[in-house]
Amino acid sequence: MTQSLQLTVNGQHYEVASDPRATLLDVLREHLLLTGSKKGCDQGQCGACTVHIDGERVLSCLTLAAQAEGRSVTTIEGLAAADGTLHAVQAAFLEHDAFQCGYCTSGQIMSAVACIKEGHARSDDEIREYMSGNLCRCGAYPNIVKAVKEAATHLSQEVTS
Ligand code: FES
Ligand code: FES
Repeated sequence: MTQSLQLTVNGQHYEVASDPRATLLDVLREHLLLTGSKKGCDQGQCGACTVHIDGERVLSCLTLAAQAEGRSVTTIEGLAAADGTLHAVQAAFLEHDAFQCGYCTSGQIMSAVACIKEGHARSDDEIREYMSGNLCRCGAYPNIVKAVKEAATHLSQEVTS
């Protein structure tokens, strides 16, 4: 059985025929070919699949695609500006070498953007706590914390300038 879904992802409208039980992660990856969101555990434990719905971070492996209907989904592919300018968090991850294999990175970045927006990036401890749902098997944590901190500072300066 399939159902027709109307999804808005990265500002684009899509109509997708999918199984009603399909997760948002599977629809993003398999139907829309947006493979930046990764499937690590598929059980809500690693954060590799993190995307935003209406600006809030969600685990797309635990979210039915149907739950995203009528809402605005953002994936890592939609984070940079239209002219290709990287989001401050993406730039900071590059600057601080905040990844090794890169498998967790899109989830880390999506979580970091939300973490900063939530106001939970005021100290290393706070960043570690609010990013704790995003695991990194390579142990890139120290540089991830540095990148999030720098991006938070950069973004707060943008707001006040
Ligand atoms: S793949 Fe979703 S939390 Fe691991
Ligand atoms: S960079 Fe390899 S899992 Fe995080």
